[in-house]
Amino acid sequence: MTDLKQFGEDVREGLSQSPKTLPSKYFYDQRGDELFVEIMHMPEYYLTRSEYEIFRNHSADLIEALNPDRQLGFDLIELGAGDGSKTIELLRELLRQKYDFDYIPIDISTNTLNVLSKRMKDELPDLNLNAKEGDYFRILEDLRNGNRPKVLLFLGSNIGNMTDDRAAGFLKRVSDVLHTGDTLLLGVDLIKSRNIVFPAYNDPAGLTRAFNLNLLSRINRELGGNFDLDSFEHRSEYTEEEGIAKSFLMSTCNQAVTISSIAKTFHFGEGERIHTEISRKYNDEVLNRILKDTALKVKGKLTDQEGYFADYILERV
Ligand code: AVJ
Repeated sequence: MTDLKQFGEDVREGLSQSPKTLPSKYFYDQRGDELFVEIMHMPEYYLTRSEYEIFRNHSADLIEALNPDRQLGFDLIELGAGDGSKTIELLRELLRQKYDFDYIPIDISTNTLNVLSKRMKDELPDLNLNAKEGDYFRILEDLRNGNRPKVLLFLGSNIGNMTDDRAAGFLKRVSDVLHTGDTLLLGVDLIKSRNIVFPAYNDPAGLTRAFNLNLLSRINRELGGNFDLDSFEHRSEYTEEEGIAKSFLMSTCNQAVTISSIAKTFHFGEGERIHTEISRKYNDEVLNRILKDTALKVKGKLTDQEGYFADYILERV
């Protein structure tokens, strides 16, 4: 199935539900990628800075906790590598400590991998780099039979976009492709007060609003939709009790929207919302519940100074 066909089907399915939903993975077209980079730089979005601080200040501690194999060497595999700013801190320290390893970033975007590879080659000429483009699990399956131990990286609170059930399923699949003693470094945003979390998803400059609304522009562009962007507003919710930031697009009037490539018209009432994203925040209890049916055990964690963000070290037992 072509990507566009899948996109159309996912949109049809989401907008036919009650309440209406759209999958957050479709935020990331070229414009969405750009907007997310801007979000990462805005003052309210502490997540990236907090995790960077962990990598910047505690690379040696991360390595000690991961305890990679000195004799056999290892594969350092990053799922969804992004621009590598955090990882480069870890790579630099591994090289300094003369570990024998290959860095294998996996991403679905060739462009992302090209930019990343260039940067790594420029900044770390001694790095053994072996970028792989495609689906995480297809590539992990291929790497499964390699004889070197694996250290997996899944950073940036990317797991936060999954419901707890999906996160559990995802980590179960990850745990199934790992061997005993392999490790996973999992970066998650921590449950904390609304004063800190809410502004990260409601910035006054309107970048998060633009990021959310871009999903509707993308439907207009790629699927022939006629969403009127001026009659939808960005909304978000967060309570510390629940620990999940949620984003919505709210229709400000009664209206109908037609999406020509799927030949469907959807009706929106005034105040009706499309649920577009969840950003799950974690603590030990939430994580352990999600890990319950996997062979992964928490071996340690490192947090930033403020205690906003954590990188958990998990081991395949
Ligand atoms: C890329 C999933 C970590 O949920 O914080 C940022 C995406 N959405 N602002 C997050 C996002 C709105 C981000 N992650």
